[in-house]
Amino acid sequence: MAEKKKDIRQIDQENQEKWEKQKFDTQLIRAGEDPYPETSHSIRTPIYATKSYTYSSLSELIKNRYFYSRTENPTLFALEKKLATLHGGEKAISLASGMAAVHLACSSVLQKRIERLRPNRIKNFFPQTNPDKIPNIIIHTNQYIGSYRLFTRIYPQMGIETKRINMCDLSEVKKAINSQTKLIFLETPANPTLNILDIQECANLIHEVGGKCIVDNTWASPALQHPLELGADLVVESLTKYINGHGDCLGGAIIGPKNEILNIRYFWLETQGPVLSPFNAWLILRGVRTLGIRMTQHSSIAMKIAQFLEKHPKITKVTYPGLESHPNHELAKKQMSDFGGMIGFELKSEEASKKFIEILKLIKIGVSLGDTTSLVINSSFMILDLAKWERESMNISNSYFRFSAGLEDPDDLIDDLSQALAQL
Ligand SMILES: Cc1ncc(COP(=O)(O)O)c(C=O)c1O
Repeated sequence: MAEKKKDIRQIDQENQEKWEKQKFDTQLIRAGEDPYPETSHSIRTPIYATKSYTYSSLSELIKNRYFYSRTENPTLFALEKKLATLHGGEKAISLASGMAAVHLACSSVLQKRIERLRPNRIKNFFPQTNPDKIPNIIIHTNQYIGSYRLFTRIYPQMGIETKRINMCDLSEVKKAINSQTKLIFLETPANPTLNILDIQECANLIHEVGGKCIVDNTWASPALQHPLELGADLVVESLTKYINGHGDCLGGAIIGPKNEILNIRYFWLETQGPVLSPFNAWLILRGVRTLGIRMTQHSSIAMKIAQFLEKHPKITKVTYPGLESHPNHELAKKQMSDFGGMIGFELKSEEASKKFIEILKLIKIGVSLGDTTSLVINSSFMILDLAKWERESMNISNSYFRFSAGLEDPDDLIDDLSQALAQL
């Protein structure tokens, strides 16, 4: 008798279990990309450039899992399966950008914790009538400016209070959490200050009141840090940065429990629409396969540069979690397997900073980070549109630089920094 054909979801599940048992570098290259059944026998996952899927009958359509590429695409599924395995999560969802991932992860968590707003309930949420019922979320003083804008410009208009505190101090976290706290959002290492936040402690504290912990893992990537293992409920990644690593497209992802990811796919992605293009998914699949060796090299280059800068007389401050002088160095050692490619440093004066950035020869000036090309940017440039009091509260001086160590030879990078500093 012919063997009964296995359900595709069962095959996926068995494959995921198989790759979960392998080491990280094997997972990077192989997980999610089993050749059967969607990808035939091609060594590389094909780009499924299609908007929808057709069948010979309605009953066949109903039985299948592919309907429309906003929510189902085999190229994206391959990437998602790989990311779920890399983070040890049940499921993952890919999205058009890191910001889309931050937004949808938070929306899904908040939606379920706040209840859907039925007309007769809305008044309970208005601060004027019931201040005790206002849901709140907790964020760190400093993080990527895009997420900061979401938390401070958008959510308050939706009836959610954002509490911004210094999360490096756990007593402040304890003080800020109350029965209405639905979410603690941690970006660690934090952009651009490189503060390291304690994922395990923060997750434990928020779980005591039934809230959720989301970690933006972009600066570490799954090669260096696994927030789900430390108790986080969801992980967010900007694939634009280290995971793709080649600076040629944008993407984002959320990794976590099956139910939450299904809700994000079929409620939030379905209605909001920030779907990743199959071309970009393919580029990211190509990039991610070398994540392990790239992160080792980014970390080693960044360490050399940080040590060089720390000794240089014209540099007033260096922040790199791998340096013993970093205030959170011990925590970084505990929750990360290496320290990554991002460095912060400060020059003596604003005038020197303006000159410095103009006389670099090899190192490129530009926003973004996490690819093969070294990039530097004056961090205050990123927050120009904020009010003066807000900029001051971030404690980022006009002479503070964010440096993304690429994969050029570290001696050439140090020579370039050296010649520019010598001219100041
Ligand atoms: C920590 C962090 N999270 C999220 C993002 C946003 O990612 P994307 O540019 O892919 O939207 C960035 C971008 O710099 C980032 O640094």
